[in-house]
Amino acid sequence: MQMTALTSAFVYEAHVDALLARMTLAEKIGQMTQVEKNSITPEEVTRYTIGSVLSGGGGNPEENNPHTWAAMVRTYLEAGQNTRLAIPVIYGVDAVHGHSNVQGAVIFPHNIGLGAAGDPELVERIGEVVARELLATHVRWTFAPAVSVPQDVRWGRTYEGFSEDADRVIPLALAFARGLDRGRRVLHSFKHFVGDGATQWNSTQLAEWANADNWQAATPFYKIDQGDAQVDEATLREVHLRPYREAVEAGALNIMVSFSSWNGVKMHRHHALLTKVLKGEFGFAGFLVSDWKGVDQIAPSHYECVVQSVNAGMDMVMVPYDFRRFIDALTSAVQNGDVAQARIDDAVRRILRVKFALGLFEDSFGDEALLAEVGSTAHRAVAREAVRKSLVLLRNEGQTLPLARDLPALLLAGNAADDVGLQCGGWTIAWQGGSRATGVLPGGTTVLEAVRQTVSPETLIHVDPAAQFAEGVTAPVGIAVIAEQPYAEGFGDNAAPALAADDLAMIDRLRARCDRLVVVLISGRPLIVTEALPKIDALVAAWLPGTEGAGITDVLFGDHPFTGRLAYSWLRSLDQLPLARLKSDPAGPLFRFGDGLV
Ligand code: BGC
Ligand code: BGC
Repeated sequence: MQMTALTSAFVYEAHVDALLARMTLAEKIGQMTQVEKNSITPEEVTRYTIGSVLSGGGGNPEENNPHTWAAMVRTYLEAGQNTRLAIPVIYGVDAVHGHSNVQGAVIFPHNIGLGAAGDPELVERIGEVVARELLATHVRWTFAPAVSVPQDVRWGRTYEGFSEDADRVIPLALAFARGLDRGRRVLHSFKHFVGDGATQWNSTQLAEWANADNWQAATPFYKIDQGDAQVDEATLREVHLRPYREAVEAGALNIMVSFSSWNGVKMHRHHALLTKVLKGEFGFAGFLVSDWKGVDQIAPSHYECVVQSVNAGMDMVMVPYDFRRFIDALTSAVQNGDVAQARIDDAVRRILRVKFALGLFEDSFGDEALLAEVGSTAHRAVAREAVRKSLVLLRNEGQTLPLARDLPALLLAGNAADDVGLQCGGWTIAWQGGSRATGVLPGGTTVLEAVRQTVSPETLIHVDPAAQFAEGVTAPVGIAVIAEQPYAEGFGDNAAPALAADDLAMIDRLRARCDRLVVVLISGRPLIVTEALPKIDALVAAWLPGTEGAGITDVLFGDHPFTGRLAYSWLRSLDQLPLARLKSDPAGPLFRFGDGLV
C-alpha cells in the first residue's frame, strides 16, 4: 500500500548521511527538540537549530483565523531556513478532527463517529481535506490518527479511538494517513504507542515531580488516562500493537509515544517496546516523538528522564516548555557518555529521513493559495457526509423516523439543540473544547439551524433547552439533543458515563408534551440510557459530529438513510465496565457491536 512510501525515504539516504556528517552535536540535539510556540521565538529556533515547533490544544495566535495562523507558522519555518545548514522546521498541531484549533476551519466528527461510519474511502477524503486546510497555514504535521483501541468507555479519550476493535481501527487509520499524504504531504503521527486504550481504571499515577504545570492541578480527574495497561503480551500484540505493525508495513513515518505504562513500566522509557519491537522487529524507520512533557514523568531528575528516554529509543522530545534545560541535559549526557553518539546520530538520521521524504528540503512551506478553501462549502460537504454516515439508529418504535417535513409543530429541547461547541467536543479551538456560550464557536450549523432549513415554513418550532415550554404547548414530535459537556484527555475520565439526572428530568418534561420523542445523543462514548429507553421512541447516537449539524437533519428527515453501525458495544449498566467484563456478562450489552437499524 502506497502511503508516504518509506522506500522513497531511503532514496534520500545519501543526502541524510551527507548532512549528518556536517552537523555539530548542538545542531543534532536541536533537531531532536520540539518546543511549544509560546515558549520559543523564531530567533531562538534559528539559534538552536530546533527540529520542530508545535501548538498544543488551543495554541492559537491571539487573533485566531486562518490568516493569522499562516503568518505565525511561516515565521517559524523561515527561522529554519535561516539556520547554518538551512534545515527545515516542521510545525505540528493536533488536527484530530479537522484543523480544529483554527476558527473557521471545518470540524469533522471525532474518530468514534468515523468508526461507526466504517468507510475508509470517506476517511481518506477527510484526510485530504484536513491536509489542505493544514497546508493553507503551513502546518505539515498533525498528531493523528489515534490508533488507540479503547477497552473502557470511562476513558476521557474514548472518542479519539475509532473502535474498541482493532480490525475496525486499522483500515480507517491507514486511510486517514493516506488522505493526508494525498493532500500533498502532511506528516501523520500514529498514536499513542502503545496500549493507551488498555489502561486500568484507577491506575493513573502522575509523578509528583512532574506536577509543576498548572494543568496538572487537574490530576485528581485523571483516573485512567495515562494509567497502566495491565495486559499480557499476547493481548498487547493482538489488540494494541497490531495497528502499529500494519502502519509500519504501510510506510508509517512518525509515531507518538504514550503517557501510559505497560505493566508498570512507562512507555517513555520502554526500550523493549520502542526499540526492540517497533524499530527492530517491525522495522519502523521513521522517528518517535514523545508526548507533552511525557519524558519528565520517568524519574525525579530531568537529566535521568532524558537519558532513559533517549536510550529507550525516543528520537524527538516534545519538551514542550523549557527547551534550554532539555538541550543542556542531553548535551551533558552525551559528554558524560550516558547517551552514545551513535544513538544521537540514529535519532537525527530518522528525523532528517522524514524531512527529506516529505520534501521539506525543497519546500518546507504549505500554500497560502489554499486559504480560500479553509471552511469552504466543498469541505463542509465532506464533513456533512461524514456526519450522516456516522449516525447510528438504536431504536425506532412505530417508524418514528424519518420525520415529515410538514409537521404542524415541533418541540426542540436539550442542551445541544443550538450549540455547535457541544457538537464538536474536546480538541476544538481550546484544548478542552467548550460550549457556544463560552465563545468557542468555530462556525458551522447547529441542529436548530439545520431543522429550520429543513422543515416547511408552516411548521411551528418551539425551542427550549430545558423543555420548560409554556402551558399548552404540545407537538406531534419532540426532539431532544443531549450532549456531554466537552472534555479532553483525563478531564473526561468519568466513573459513571450515563445520562445526567437533569437530562432524565428534561426527557420526562418533553415526553409529556409530544406524541413521539426523538433523542439525539451527542457523546464521546456510549452512555447508559437503559432507564430512559422505554420513554424514547427513536434514539440516535450522533457521537461528536462537529460543525455540520445539517448532517443530522439529512437523516432525521429521510433525505438519506441511516447506515452507521456501532463500533463500540453499548453497555446496559455500570457494573458491566470495562469491556472484558461486558463481554463475559450473560446479560449482554444493551446494543451490540455492529448494531444499527436501517
Ligand atoms: C496528548 C497528545 C497530543 C499532545 C500535543 C498530549 O497531551 O496526549 O495526544 O498530541 O498533547 O497537544
Ligand atoms: C496543551 C495540550 C496538551 C496538554 C497536556 C495543554 O496545555 O494545550 O495540547 O495536550 O496541555 O496534556
